[in-house]
Amino acid sequence: MTAPHDTVLVVDFGAQYAQLIARRVREARVYSEIVPRTMPIAEMLAKHPKGIIFSGGPASVHVDDAPTIDPAIYDDDVPVLGICYGAQLVALQLGGDVERTGGGEYGRTAMTRHGSSVLLAELPETQSVWMSHGDAITSAPGGFAVTASSPGAAVAALEDRERGVYGVQFHPEVVHTERGQDVLRAFLFDVCACRPTWTNTNIIEEAVAEVRAQVGSERVICGLSGGVDSAVAAALVHRAVGDQLTCVFVDTGLLRLDEAEQVEETFRAQFHVDLVHVKAADRFVSALAGVTEPEQKRKIIGETFIRVFEEVAADLSDARFLVQGTLYPDIVESGGGDNATIKSHHNVGGLPDDMKFDLVEPLRALFKDEVRAIGEELGLPEEIVWRQPFPGPGLAVRIIGEVTPERLDTLRLADAVVLEELRRAGLEREIWQSFAVLPAVRTVGVMGDGRTYEYPIIIRAVTSEDAMTADWARLPHDLLERMASRIINEVPGVNRVAYDITSKPPGTIEWE
Ligand code: XMP
Repeated sequence: MTAPHDTVLVVDFGAQYAQLIARRVREARVYSEIVPRTMPIAEMLAKHPKGIIFSGGPASVHVDDAPTIDPAIYDDDVPVLGICYGAQLVALQLGGDVERTGGGEYGRTAMTRHGSSVLLAELPETQSVWMSHGDAITSAPGGFAVTASSPGAAVAALEDRERGVYGVQFHPEVVHTERGQDVLRAFLFDVCACRPTWTNTNIIEEAVAEVRAQVGSERVICGLSGGVDSAVAAALVHRAVGDQLTCVFVDTGLLRLDEAEQVEETFRAQFHVDLVHVKAADRFVSALAGVTEPEQKRKIIGETFIRVFEEVAADLSDARFLVQGTLYPDIVESGGGDNATIKSHHNVGGLPDDMKFDLVEPLRALFKDEVRAIGEELGLPEEIVWRQPFPGPGLAVRIIGEVTPERLDTLRLADAVVLEELRRAGLEREIWQSFAVLPAVRTVGVMGDGRTYEYPIIIRAVTSEDAMTADWARLPHDLLERMASRIINEVPGVNRVAYDITSKPPGTIEWE
């Protein structure tokens, strides 16, 4: 998707920041791509980048196998911006000094600007920046001007305008660097003269053109899960090829309250998509009868899903293409280094291998925030666009013990209260996931004059960036109280509510 856009490459030196840098560049409406540092320079230049950014990295430039890059990269006209480790690498490779000064700087730091600077032109004399370094640049290479310093970094920013090489010790991509985005914008627009063409409208137009070119007049099917990725992918493909698209929505009966209706309403009533809505709740529940072991639940649900999908696909035997909601982070695996892996995910929950479809992946160049933005632009409702991640096996892994229709009803109602109250408190977008869990045990309580013996509900709410790690959300006590009292009053069969305060690790987000 690079053709009409000015492109900036982000060379990944192995920090967790490469994706963030790429996202910030795109927020400035400039197309960015992440490349491993091991990519040959000629291959990078063949992408005709207008600028190249070196990410930070976890290593010291002085360790034996410190990640590096072919210095030939500085010989070309393409401007380079090194960030943190990237800045140290630039300094070292061009003849400056980088030393272990002892202290290092971690966290918010006051930085002072010196003299004139293209990169920092818009910035005040002093400001708060985010630092995270052990080594420091102690002298800039010949030809470079030192344009800023901080208590722990004599050279906090440097530039050689002649050569088009720039470096910042701080992290302009993180929100804690107050004017960070201005620094990136200065590089993109004043140094690289990029055009800000990466807009939602353009992204949609290009994806639509690409899908049309790929599928021609053939039939396409798309499995809708209710989640944001498959919904946006379906809406895009529908805009591209209209009636050639058939969406298949398998209602497993393990979804949250009203989710199935919402999918139906949005895709059939609003978008007039040809939708096959398979109501398979009974089938899933009977397949799960008597099963308590979590992995076995997953296996049964996966297999049942495949069988149902196969049956539907048999009726759509002329379909040649299958839409997948693969995103950019699924394709680019960050990490840099020699073992940088590019992996391709097939994230339709276990479709059979012998189904021979060509894949249509209209979101494969996009980050999640971009997917949401174009979902809104395509007219999808907020409830779908901002939906939290939801596990494929659904509520089955949130009932601890056997899944029964009654327990599903109880959990669905309690879960709906949690989500509704969170929305009402305006916290839905801040919280990664929030939901109810129903452990199939009973606890004693007292209501009115009588003893009760009913289910507890556990509320789980976590903050996270990527689900690999998570922290329990510090929800306000009065919000928790509202959730708890509504659950007890409105959900029959529940007499106790607890809040899960386990982070990940050691816990997982889901209970099973
Ligand atoms: P855990 O519980 O491992 O979950 O911390 C991490 C993220 O993955 C989701 N999850 C699943 N998603 N199939 C899925 O599609 C699954 O079997 C599954 N199990 C967990 C979970 O909701 C969280 O976002």
